[in-house]
Amino acid sequence: MKIGILISGRGSNMVAIVDAVNSGEIPDSDVAVVISDKPNAAGLAKARERGVESVVIERKGRTREAHDAEIIAELQKRGVELVCLAGYMRLLSKDFIHAFENRIVNIHPSLLPAFPGLDAQKQAIEHGVKLSGCTVHFVDEKLDAGPIILQKAVEVRDDDTTETLSARVLEQEHAAYVEAVKILAEGPACTLPPVVFCL
Ligand code: GRF
Repeated sequence: MKIGILISGRGSNMVAIVDAVNSGEIPDSDVAVVISDKPNAAGLAKARERGVESVVIERKGRTREAHDAEIIAELQKRGVELVCLAGYMRLLSKDFIHAFENRIVNIHPSLLPAFPGLDAQKQAIEHGVKLSGCTVHFVDEKLDAGPIILQKAVEVRDDDTTETLSARVLEQEHAAYVEAVKILAEGPACTLPPVVFCL
């Protein structure tokens, strides 16, 4: 399975996927490209260190559709079959979703459908939930709302701050993202929606 990963920043989830592909934990796969919309994303150097091609595609005042068209072209020309959003801080256009229908996955640092959008861990602390976690899901046209592939729960402690909770959730994110991509790489095509609901 050829994988393309989109990032905007630190890239720790991208690193978890690349390392799992390189170790064979995610079988029969190859990370064909890492694309960042930010030239200063720390993840770019981490991709390069691991021998993965990295490309910067900035929005530069273009429409979302024009920006996405360039990203879609870069992914398609490398034969990418699965797009992993890993801290990619932009909404995708409809064109993007349709170009890779049921082939885009995202990781979100809460137990969706609770706390979609930005600052999910802060939202969890402020709401006083006792259990949070992370979710890997397919991407559709709504924000953080597509079919869920898997979740991992993390206890919220009384003395947690956004930082301490985020750190524990992040550890689970790395495990969850690797596990989800492994399911997609190993499974027959029927692990993709709509059949995912039958699993
Ligand atoms: C993660 O918490 C992810 O769930 C969210 O953005 C953060 C990205 O972290 N979407 P990293 O760039 O993978 O380290």
